[in-house]
Amino acid sequence: MERVTTSDPAPAREDEAGTDRPILEVRDLTLRFGGVTALDGVSFEVGRGELFAVIGPNGAGKTSIFNCLNGVYRPQEGTITLDGERLVGRAPAAIAAMGVARTFQNLGLFEHLTLIENLMLGRHHLMRTGFGTGMLWWGRAKREEVRHRAAVEEIVELLELEPYRRMPAGLLPYGVAKRAELGRALAMEPSLLLLDEPVAGMNLEETEDTARYLVEVRRELGLAMILVEHDMRLVMDLADRVLALDFGVAIATGKPSEIQNHPAVIEAYLGGAR
Ligand SMILES: Nc1ncnc2c1ncn2[C@@H]1O[C@H](COP(=O)(O)OP(=O)(O)O)[C@@H](O)[C@H]1O
Ligand SMILES: [Mg+2]
Repeated sequence: MERVTTSDPAPAREDEAGTDRPILEVRDLTLRFGGVTALDGVSFEVGRGELFAVIGPNGAGKTSIFNCLNGVYRPQEGTITLDGERLVGRAPAAIAAMGVARTFQNLGLFEHLTLIENLMLGRHHLMRTGFGTGMLWWGRAKREEVRHRAAVEEIVELLELEPYRRMPAGLLPYGVAKRAELGRALAMEPSLLLLDEPVAGMNLEETEDTARYLVEVRRELGLAMILVEHDMRLVMDLADRVLALDFGVAIATGKPSEIQNHPAVIEAYLGGAR
């Protein structure tokens, strides 16, 4: 994980049944909308348990990367490999079932359902797509239900959501609702979590809380995360490595300290100069 350039593909490692291999490998991703090139040959990889951040000015292609990863957009060129399985061309639901979960820039909770019910919905999605359908599922439903409730309660505890369990999501304070949304994504038991601006609209205290919960989630669950975020301080505090995009091009990949001082990144953020 010491490589800073993104141009050379990672050597395929055969050791220990591939456990050292990155969980996600993105190679030469190109996405166009008519004349607009949203992503231009972007390559990067995310290690197991790594917190990987994607930064860049507005329009740089951050959301487009997420939408390629979760199957909402289909790139014209390039490959995306999750744990050795190719993702390009699969439907969003299939990709979610393979273990890619996301949170949204705007809240994606069902307002009239309680917090617990919202988290259970994350599980039901997993259940339907992961365990087969019909009679097989029906026969196991009771046992499944118990298991799913237990999994949800673990997440409630991890994110300190106990006081809000029975509250309709629409009544949750904003910071808590964002945390509940994180909880619902975690309820899917993802192997890769995509976080789209998790502190957007938060005050300083809520932002610091979120950072703390992300650190906690990472320590307890050890899943890989990709963070798209405007709050540069949060990115620099939390990320193991950062990919900086500008006009769809990966201009730098490296440790936060390397990215912060990278001339091309500084130039992209000063912007007006071009
Ligand atoms: N569905 C779309 N149709 C047309 N152009 C799009 C679409 N989605 C993104 N783009 C364009 O692709 C570029 C990258 O957008 P986006 O990925 O949303 O950037 P970011 O999230 O970094 O702000 C922008 O020029 C944007 O206008
Ligand atoms: Mg965006």
